[in-house]
Amino acid sequence: MQRILVVDDAEVNRELLRGMLKDDYIVELAEDGEQAVQKLQKYQDETTALLLDLQMPKLDGFGVIAEMKENGWLGKIPVLVISGEQAAEVENQCFELGVSDFIHKPFEMSIVKNRVKNTVELFNCKNQLEAKVERQTERLRRQHRLIQLQAEKLKETKPFNELMMQYRSAIMEVETKLHILNDEFSHQYNRNPFESIKSRLKTPESIYEKLTRKGAAVTVGNIREKLADVAGVRVICSFPDDIYRLAELFIRQDDIILLTRKDYIKNPKDNGYRSLHIIIEVPIFLSSAKIYRKVEVQFRTIAMDFWASLEHKLKYKKDVENAEEIVRKLKDCADSIELLDYQMQGIRNEIDRARP
Ligand code: GTP
Ligand code: MG
Repeated sequence: MQRILVVDDAEVNRELLRGMLKDDYIVELAEDGEQAVQKLQKYQDETTALLLDLQMPKLDGFGVIAEMKENGWLGKIPVLVISGEQAAEVENQCFELGVSDFIHKPFEMSIVKNRVKNTVELFNCKNQLEAKVERQTERLRRQHRLIQLQAEKLKETKPFNELMMQYRSAIMEVETKLHILNDEFSHQYNRNPFESIKSRLKTPESIYEKLTRKGAAVTVGNIREKLADVAGVRVICSFPDDIYRLAELFIRQDDIILLTRKDYIKNPKDNGYRSLHIIIEVPIFLSSAKIYRKVEVQFRTIAMDFWASLEHKLKYKKDVENAEEIVRKLKDCADSIELLDYQMQGIRNEIDRARP
């Protein structure tokens, strides 16, 4: 049975409340605030609720609440004030201090019984939920620590560093090819098909996390075989047609092996994400051999890139207010961006057609 502490200086009230609750709870009694605090010190873990009078000798109800706050008991044990006090300010003050319920004297037996029952149930639920969240947070914290540790270990091994060196070389090869195309294009047509290139190597933490998510052991072999985006190159173009032209010219080179091509510009994701993704293998020439390494190349317009970086931020936030509303607004923006990109391209075509 759960334990309830009834605190009231009037014996008649204590007895009335005891009589009413004794079938469902173990009822502890206290005649004033000091006694209440002593009993809480003794039974804080077993006490499921406190029925508290306000006006009492030695230490009054507010004094008890202050002690409970000080000791961190107020979040764990619900307090129901039972008082003859009629002023709304006093009732408000109690709620502001963190009291769960306020019952006016003279009280109606059945109402007190039900309000105690509801408050206790609610608090049990809240405490269970908090404990569950705490357990899960701890589990995630442990997992994160483990990933960090393993990633540190990975960084120290020679084969891993060798593989990373190869991916860095693969990125350089891809960047060089794109820069050459850009140069040639600007010679011929007097404009650049891309604005900028951003490259990145996946971090050991992110590699570890992705392989684990895929259910694969974290080995150098698996990094090579199962991950296609360890080396990533992002090409930011001004216009959509530049994306296709550049990607075609790049893929057509006879040392490039195209593995997959996903056109999220023609078929945008539901959230509005647009980009052209290709995964290719590019040869790198080492002192002893020629080997192929995978690179993920993403082509986007400036506007698509602007959109994707903003949308990406949403994924790493947990407590975004109006998340649904933001998702809807982002989708609207993505649609406007598509319109804008093609309008700008149309204007560019008109300008290009005019004589110099
Ligand atoms: P990942 O496991 O995330 O690599 O996805 P995937 O292997 O199914 O490939 P996909 O082509 O869908 O995505 C590859 C990469 O494109 C991602 O790692 C992101 O960098 C980017 N990307 C894909 N979808 C989105 C999106 O909805 N929003 C943003 N901001 N980026 C995206
Ligand atoms: Mg990826």
